Amino acid sequence: MPNARQWMLIITGGLLLWYMLSSLAARREPEPSPGHQAFRQRLVAVGDLHGDIRNTRAVLRMAKLIDEHDKWIGGSDILVQTGDNIDRGTYALDIYRLFASLRDQASEAGGQLHTVLGNHEFMNAIGDWRYVSKADIAHWGGQKQRLHDMSLDGWLGQEWLANYTTTARVYLAPFKGAPSLSFTHGSLRPSYPDLLPYPDRINELGAGLLSRALTPPMAPPHPPNPYRGLPEGTTAAEAGVYDGGGPLWWRGLADELDEKTVCEWAKELKEKLGVRRIIGGHTPDFERIVDRCGGDVIIIDTGISYAYGGVLSALEIIYSLRPVDGAGELSTGVHALREGERYIEREEVYAVYQRGKKKITVIEQEMII
Ligand SMILES: *[C@@H]1O[C@H](CO)[C@@H](O)[C@H](O)[C@H]1NC(C)=O
Repeated sequence: MPNARQWMLIITGGLLLWYMLSSLAARREPEPSPGHQAFRQRLVAVGDLHGDIRNTRAVLRMAKLIDEHDKWIGGSDILVQTGDNIDRGTYALDIYRLFASLRDQASEAGGQLHTVLGNHEFMNAIGDWRYVSKADIAHWGGQKQRLHDMSLDGWLGQEWLANYTTTARVYLAPFKGAPSLSFTHGSLRPSYPDLLPYPDRINELGAGLLSRALTPPMAPPHPPNPYRGLPEGTTAAEAGVYDGGGPLWWRGLADELDEKTVCEWAKELKEKLGVRRIIGGHTPDFERIVDRCGGDVIIIDTGISYAYGGVLSALEIIYSLRPVDGAGELSTGVHALREGERYIEREEVYAVYQRGKKKITVIEQEMII
């Protein structure tokens, strides 16, 4: 048995230990809990899908945007698809139908769907059907039906013209001066003459070319018919969109080996367009989403379609604002954000795969909105 003096020591020691531990715990930074965020936005971007409806669904489920019945469960999330839903695989038709249905559902839930046209959408429109499989034409109900659906008289032609763009600028938050990201199928080239005003100029030229191509009578498909080239009346600037150096076909940001050159291009593009990141598809890496220059450039084509057998992937961005003074309420509405106040802005960028998420970059900085 300890005597009175030993008891005193044990009790004092215990108290000291408790005091030290509790003050240590108090000094630790509180975790940023959702309760302290004034604003939170999640964005998911998916690359080339090439006629694979199964993997399209698998990727959207992996990204927690749709459920087992293809219903939108993404709430206020933003989904961006960077083009080339068609060719190679069989089920392009189903992919376009799925996106049309998700566009309505997302907007009802306060979310957004941005769909971008790829070089393969344009190829089909102008009659270059070299990558169209027999199975795709059969699944569509024959060549005549397919041509009709894609024309200005058909649902898909109308959907492309109304709801697809050649490039998309997507804002991460709804306040003036909020950061935005650029999405294009191919690479934007810094010396491409029609970058500005961004994104309107590119989209006006893309829509011009597309509506010429889709105006009946559409070009008879090649093969077996001879390739007609761009539609009659196409302007030089419209032809530039479809050129090897244009936004649908160029691969510079993906293919250039010299990292320093790519970073200079990225810097120039970011300044010119006023966007934070340049994101594209078109050039597959069958293993991973490729980030360059610390995430200034991200290439998200991982050959998702069974026609390629690459890896299922999605780019995920989680953007949040926490008030520096006082706690705001968690809300995705702009009313929680107060102009002139200081916030901690946090942007987390991840590559998502079936085996897990991989961090690309995280930015945290103080800003006044
Ligand atoms: C474009 O999208 C809207 C919203 O989902 C839809 O109501 C509309 O029918 C689409 N337009 C065309 C021409 O398909």
